[in-house]
Amino acid sequence: MAQFHRIKGTHDILPQDARKWRYVEGVVQEVMQRYNFSEIRTPIFEETALFARGIGQLTDIVSKEMYTFLDRGEKSLTLKPEGTAPVIRAFIEHNLGEKKPVHKLYYISPMFRQENPQAGRLRQFHQFGAELIGSPAPEADVETIALAVDIYERFGLKQFTLKINSVGDAACRVPYKEQLQAFLRPRLDKLCRSCQERFEKNPLRILDCKEEGCREQTAEAPRITDHLCEACHHHFEAVKTLLNRLEIAFEVDHRLVRGLDYYTRTAFEIISGSLGAQNALGGGGRYDLLAEELGGKPTPSVGFAAGIERLLMVLEKENLLPEFQEGPDVFIATLGEAAKTWAIPAARRLRRQGFKVDYDFMGRSLKAQMKEANRSGARFALIVGDNELQAGEVVLRDLATSEQETVAMDTIDEMLRQRTASQS
Ligand code: HAM
Repeated sequence: MAQFHRIKGTHDILPQDARKWRYVEGVVQEVMQRYNFSEIRTPIFEETALFARGIGQLTDIVSKEMYTFLDRGEKSLTLKPEGTAPVIRAFIEHNLGEKKPVHKLYYISPMFRQENPQAGRLRQFHQFGAELIGSPAPEADVETIALAVDIYERFGLKQFTLKINSVGDAACRVPYKEQLQAFLRPRLDKLCRSCQERFEKNPLRILDCKEEGCREQTAEAPRITDHLCEACHHHFEAVKTLLNRLEIAFEVDHRLVRGLDYYTRTAFEIISGSLGAQNALGGGGRYDLLAEELGGKPTPSVGFAAGIERLLMVLEKENLLPEFQEGPDVFIATLGEAAKTWAIPAARRLRRQGFKVDYDFMGRSLKAQMKEANRSGARFALIVGDNELQAGEVVLRDLATSEQETVAMDTIDEMLRQRTASQS
């Protein structure tokens, strides 16, 4: 019979990896909470139009990467390719804006994009992200940037670079776009096919193209930061000043445009030197017009999202993952039927006391059970045979030191509590 395989670009997270994920998620949650962000969970799928309108029809994500399907009612649904549009949809739907002016929300969630899989680029991947909804202030931009940086620093990451840019707003982007098109028009035939397609509707994205030929052609292109309106200019200056005040190092990258159309003013990315071609650990920016685009009231907002698989690649590479001790506290090894019968309720009782307990399910010999106890990484083995049972005793063996002693059955809890407390 043919076997089934996981879908290309998806991963199984096996137990030895799942604990790394739990660690990463725990640290992310801890730092998010210190910044007073609250968790939000939105569904895995949404109406397709939410993403088409929110992210932009012409983006790579919407035009070719979404997992879109019709449900049985012929409604077009899409597995979420990103988290910002769903969070803003939920914000509007639940009238959160009426409850208080600023909402700070975070999420950890799988996302889906039908990209060509390669190292660091998957079809089901996971992001943690944060959205600060409701404030136009540059302090809000810096709050989300500092949050992202602090998460990476909390993991011990050192080799990462924060890149920032301003992509202006609706007012200054239109005249800049025209200037950029005027500059690019005579160079059009030297640009790659995708950039030629971007020329009319989304010329700013051409600046972001990674093709060497396109980069050469755009090296002298007018910079958007030289064409910002007064308000956008002040905003960008304030963001830079605040970052300096927090001693957060950054580079201004005039080419940084980002692949989603909702951005206004600040755009940023965090790049790791430890990753290959897919070197963006995370990115984000301000999106002051998105809420209106999705049918809500004007709600200036800013946020970021970051790939967990990419973070894990860096943590592995830079040796920053802690040692995990995941074995049980106690493995109960038995000899004889009576002892086996005793073991099952004893295990349950100890588990209810808070100990992590395991025992044999394969009817193995005592020797094989002890081997299993060692392999499981257990701290202690409780060894019980018919003789011990009759005497109301068990042998408690420390599997690290191989020291063992005989203890009265009714003192097991207390003994274990003392031993595990002194070891942890
Ligand atoms: P994004 O730049 O599309 O932004 O994705 C953020 C991060 O998700 C990337 O920097 C990368 O680490 C990870 N990522 C994206 N695509 C993949 C993939 N195919 N495989 C593995 N990792 C991937 C957003 O999604 C915006 N929603 C960020 C944001 C939030 N802007 C404002 N608020």
